[in-house]
Amino acid sequence: MPTEVLWVDKYAPKKLSEIIGWRKQVEEFVSWFNRALRGEEKRPCLLVGPPGVGKTALVHAFARERGVELIELNASDERSAEKIRELEKVVVTGSITGRPKLLFLDEIDGMSGTADRGGVSAILKIIKISRIPVAMAANDPYSQRLRPLRDMAYTIRFHALRSDLIARKLKQIAEAEGLNITEDAIKAIAQRSGGSLRSAINDLQALSSRELITKADVEAMLGVRDVQSNVFEALNKLFKGSPELAKQAFEDSGLDPRAFLLWVKHATTVAYSDPDEVSRAFDSLSKADIFLTRIIREQEWGLLKYAIDFMTMGVNLAGEKPRGFIRWGVPSRFRVAREEALRSALAKIARHTHTSTREIRRLLPLIRIIASKGRLSFLSREEQAALAPLAKQPPELKEEKEARAEEKPRRRRRAARRAAKRSSGQATLSLG
Ligand SMILES: Nc1ncnc2c1ncn2[C@@H]1O[C@H](COP(=O)(O)OP(=O)(O)O)[C@@H](O)[C@H]1O
Ligand SMILES: [Mg+2]
Repeated sequence: MPTEVLWVDKYAPKKLSEIIGWRKQVEEFVSWFNRALRGEEKRPCLLVGPPGVGKTALVHAFARERGVELIELNASDERSAEKIRELEKVVVTGSITGRPKLLFLDEIDGMSGTADRGGVSAILKIIKISRIPVAMAANDPYSQRLRPLRDMAYTIRFHALRSDLIARKLKQIAEAEGLNITEDAIKAIAQRSGGSLRSAINDLQALSSRELITKADVEAMLGVRDVQSNVFEALNKLFKGSPELAKQAFEDSGLDPRAFLLWVKHATTVAYSDPDEVSRAFDSLSKADIFLTRIIREQEWGLLKYAIDFMTMGVNLAGEKPRGFIRWGVPSRFRVAREEALRSALAKIARHTHTSTREIRRLLPLIRIIASKGRLSFLSREEQAALAPLAKQPPELKEEKEARAEEKPRRRRRAARRAAKRSSGQATLSLG
């Protein structure tokens, strides 16, 4: 597969005048740097604001335009605390070439949480001994861990970008790339970007292979994103909240239990790094998995609450609460292929029913029930799968409940035979 350049890189601002929306912030940054160079400013600079609004872009454009040698560390990289210690040697040298230097510690709140308690103090030490200006960027303005840094820094604040500014930039890119896209579609991307130009540009690129990009296409794609943002909120609750709060995460996520298990499993590897914590969490997840298998096989929905407890409180109690902003990531099974499949499923259904994808999306809960009954045979397996696992357990129809009740004794006997066959204690975590 040919690798395509990311448009966020291709269209990144090359000079300060290309930075959108932050005139005052740019001025403050430039004048901070000038004061720091003259030795009039001892404070490091801290750029704080939501992701994707141009904090990193500003520093890069500045360094490029001004011929500043940028020494850069993305603090959310693994082992960053160690690298910060290595930097100690570099920053005491100051500038010998005559070219000014700037140390830029990006995404300091992403610094690996529990594993790296030394992180913040390592940064404080660097700042203390550094003979070159130090700038930092962070997303979370309220992080307790960053408090010591925030207190000492010269802070420049950023917020979500206005959607008209985002739309204007998208339009420029669309023109440069020769896209065929409606005004509506551009507006929709901008409005749903949450003020992040990065995610808006990424969305535009994700849609760019289509002949014509309409608002319906945007909505079909971004609907999946809505599901994800609920899930991310739920994961924050699950890992960072009290055990009681964690319990609500399942409801909040809007996922069915199997899908929820997959997300939590993936998130566990992000939240915990200590092997003991990870193993306790996985132990809990494997118990949930056993319950779920049994619930689904024997339709014992009464057991669901135990499965949920294991997936939420159990995992919550397995380790120390991760702090700061966490990029949860998406389990591989739910990535792009799935979005693509969902989009094409919706388009096909729309065609079959002579309506718009937008209408289909509005009816999605119903569509999912219909799909779960196997009545959309014109969809491919991938498309059906994309519809199914994100849905909640469909409410059961009354006739079906009765039919099942009759069938139960037989089902039980079958289950008992199966259980006898299996040797005991085969608690494997089969997530699939
Ligand atoms: N204010 C902005 N002006 C111009 N481009 C921007 C701006 N904000 C974001 N971008 C685009 O989005 C990309 C990501 O922005 P970035 O600076 O990395 O965001 P942050 O560091 O705030 O998370 C940039 O490479 C650029 O293409
Ligand atoms: Mg950044």
